[in-house]
Amino acid sequence: MRQYDCEPTLNDSETLEFCKNGFMMFEGVVSDEVNRMTNEFLDEHDGTEPTEILDEDWFMDGVIKHPVVAGAIRSLLGKDFGLPNLVSNHRIQRPQPAQEWHYDGGDIFGPQLNYVQVFYYPQDCPRELGPTELLPGSHFLYSQRDMTKHYGRIRGSYHAVSPAGSVFLTDYSIWHRRSESWGSGLRNNVKYNYWRTSPPTRDWVEEPGFDAATADYAFHGPTFRKQFQDCYDAAEMYFWLRGEHDKFELLGGQGWPIPGNRNDLPYGAPEGVR
Ligand SMILES: [Fe+2]
Repeated sequence: MRQYDCEPTLNDSETLEFCKNGFMMFEGVVSDEVNRMTNEFLDEHDGTEPTEILDEDWFMDGVIKHPVVAGAIRSLLGKDFGLPNLVSNHRIQRPQPAQEWHYDGGDIFGPQLNYVQVFYYPQDCPRELGPTELLPGSHFLYSQRDMTKHYGRIRGSYHAVSPAGSVFLTDYSIWHRRSESWGSGLRNNVKYNYWRTSPPTRDWVEEPGFDAATADYAFHGPTFRKQFQDCYDAAEMYFWLRGEHDKFELLGGQGWPIPGNRNDLPYGAPEGVR
């Protein structure tokens, strides 16, 4: 597996946001020229797995190693992360009905982040062209696949409406689907994974004033589980990424990390962690 390293770009709050939501969008970061070359390549290699695009330097430099994307991956997966070795293209002729809600086979639920699933749109994807629909926070929402696909619209879902050149990073376990489309034409949606090769540690951009004891772990959206479960899970994932999973412990009740207007540090905040 080919590996890559670069400077991390995410700070503590941004890393924690990824833990909470299970995805992160970078709109329009890839250049028009690379978008055009990608669309042309995909026209000429009209298959569901155009992995040979990884042999193209312009694609590796302009998309896979793009500083904004690679910097975020470096922050989440650590140094010398593994580069994609398989590319899928969800190329559809529109209009289409919505796909069933699902998460992809190969997911392992839990606080660990050993790979990141990435989607790249080489053309504009407005709402009428069926952007990927994601359910924020659902990377912690375990369910058998047969129990996810019967849902229709779900309150709080996010449509990845975005301009050409947008790239979004997702936790592999996140619930997603192709949303319904009523426009016409072809849509490419290129998908691949990056891999962790080094143990998790807090070597992203350290944020002055960030305090893991008082950070906001709350999930600000519709929740689908018992109150504060999202908060617990986001905190656990954040601690796993810091390489301090052994320090994560829950007291329950009004203890850390649930939100609240306290007059002191929350009870149960991990000792010696800032
Ligand atoms: Fe999928």
